[in-house]
Amino acid sequence: MLNLNLWRPKPGSGPAGNPPAAAIPAAATVRSLLRIVVLNSKGGCGKTTLSTNLAGYYACCGYRTALLDTDPQGSSMLWLRNRAAHHPRVTGISAYERAGRVTRSFQLRVPPDIERLIVDTPAALDGMRLQELTRGADAILIPVLPSDIDIHAASRCIAELLLTAHIDRRAGQVAVIANRVKKNTLMYDKLLRFLQSLGIPFIATLRDTQNSVHASEQGVCIHELDARKIGEDVREWEELIRWLESRQTPAAATTAAPLTQPGNQPAG
Ligand SMILES: Nc1ncnc2c1ncn2[C@@H]1O[C@H](COP(=O)(O)OP(=O)(O)OP(=O)(O)O)[C@@H](O)[C@H]1O
Ligand SMILES: [Mg+2]
Repeated sequence: MLNLNLWRPKPGSGPAGNPPAAAIPAAATVRSLLRIVVLNSKGGCGKTTLSTNLAGYYACCGYRTALLDTDPQGSSMLWLRNRAAHHPRVTGISAYERAGRVTRSFQLRVPPDIERLIVDTPAALDGMRLQELTRGADAILIPVLPSDIDIHAASRCIAELLLTAHIDRRAGQVAVIANRVKKNTLMYDKLLRFLQSLGIPFIATLRDTQNSVHASEQGVCIHELDARKIGEDVREWEELIRWLESRQTPAAATTAAPLTQPGNQPAG
């Protein structure tokens, strides 16, 4: 069994406080670590796509970013292998790929200067694994697709998270995201009602778009695609990033500075 004992303590207070997501850090500044876990026991709901997009986004914003792949399928690491060298760097950490002769704990080590850690998780997690994977997380994101099967699976996963993994919903770490949405459909309305009934922040609606597919194939995030094609996606992402950044200083949730788009680059 994978034992993810990799959470290092957060520094008491980062030297640069909690700047807005789009701020580019000075070279010598290391801001405190934000640990984001993307999970849902249901397969195919967009965990990897959300994880890689988050990793790419934060790297583009100048954060020292790592992507931890805890799924034996290795999809996040495949995305990283497809990422061209000229794109902002994302450090890959694979729980399953063997990296030469190093020990497993060394392999799972998060470099000390990492500021944003994104954890992609596999499907079919039981309560024990949920507990392991969410230990020390600042934010837990649950993408849910608009389908009856996905709604049912998500409600089971959230119940497991709250009851077995002992995540307290009042701590404000957990949020749900509607993914692959086609607005103005009955199924979307049903998903909205479900997500709003959970008593958990519902922080973003991500549309069903080929931009996600193209970005995944090219090892980039949506924000690195042609700026003319991503206006709607950028708007959808703003609330998501704003919520994530407010995890470090809960009081800042309503005062967070408006986000600007990270530097656009041609897709690799
Ligand atoms: N917003 C979106 N718009 C269009 N396609 C999407 C979107 N999000 C994810 N997809 C597509 O849905 C499929 C499943 O996504 P993804 O692999 O990220 O799911 P997953 O939850 O990681 O799956 P698994 O449980 O197998 O790891 C992929 O083909 C991906 O490109
Ligand atoms: Mg995946």
